[in-house]
Amino acid sequence: MAEAPVLTIDGPSGSGKGTVAAKVAQVLGWHILDSGALYRLVGLAAQKAGMDLSDSAAIAEMARTLPVKFVDRKVFLDGEDVSLAIRTETAGNNASKVAAIPEVRAALLGWQRDYARPPGLVADGRDMGTVVFPHAGVKIFLDASADERARRRYKQLKDKGIDVKLSGLIAEIEERDHRDRNRSVAPLLPAEDAQVIDSTRLDVDTVVDRVLQAVYEAYPETGCKSSI
Ligand code: DC
Repeated sequence: MAEAPVLTIDGPSGSGKGTVAAKVAQVLGWHILDSGALYRLVGLAAQKAGMDLSDSAAIAEMARTLPVKFVDRKVFLDGEDVSLAIRTETAGNNASKVAAIPEVRAALLGWQRDYARPPGLVADGRDMGTVVFPHAGVKIFLDASADERARRRYKQLKDKGIDVKLSGLIAEIEERDHRDRNRSVAPLLPAEDAQVIDSTRLDVDTVVDRVLQAVYEAYPETGCKSSI
């Protein structure tokens, strides 16, 4: 079978990756991989099991056999709907901690690569272009200032009915970024061949448009639209 086209979108939390990835995938009719959700699930499962987040071997073993099901737009862990529970800032922080464990990353590698199927895949994360899909045809690194990212996250969480304080969010985002950027394995950084887009002053549609242009250039068979 011919390899499926892959678009990777990496970047720090709150850079707008998730929103852009969902819109681009919708326009292209491609599959989507929200790799952060997998790390969030591992973090949540570890927390629920009362595991020590530094117990690398035990957490990696659990990651290999995680009882997860994605149904429509919901995610179930061992039969329980955890769609909202994995989106809290605590879950994000726990995800970032378990994501620093090399064995956990290795356990999730094959699972993530399985998402690359025709007609194509939009993969959203931190190491999609550097580690998981190094041969992707299009690689985007989406960035934005920490303040702007915290503001976006704040709005996103409020819209979901999750109560947070903006000041706490900025501190948490900076702490999480620091951990994600400085870990020894698969740190958050743009792939050498990634196009870096700073979205601080761009609206979502402008970013989506730029990403689609890059996809149409790399994979002309996907269409020749000039805007969304
Ligand atoms: O994208 P997100 O906020 O849902 O990701 C949650 C955490 O998971 C993030 O802080 C770092 C980690 N992560 C990762 O290490 N590698 C990925 N490909 C995706 C997420």
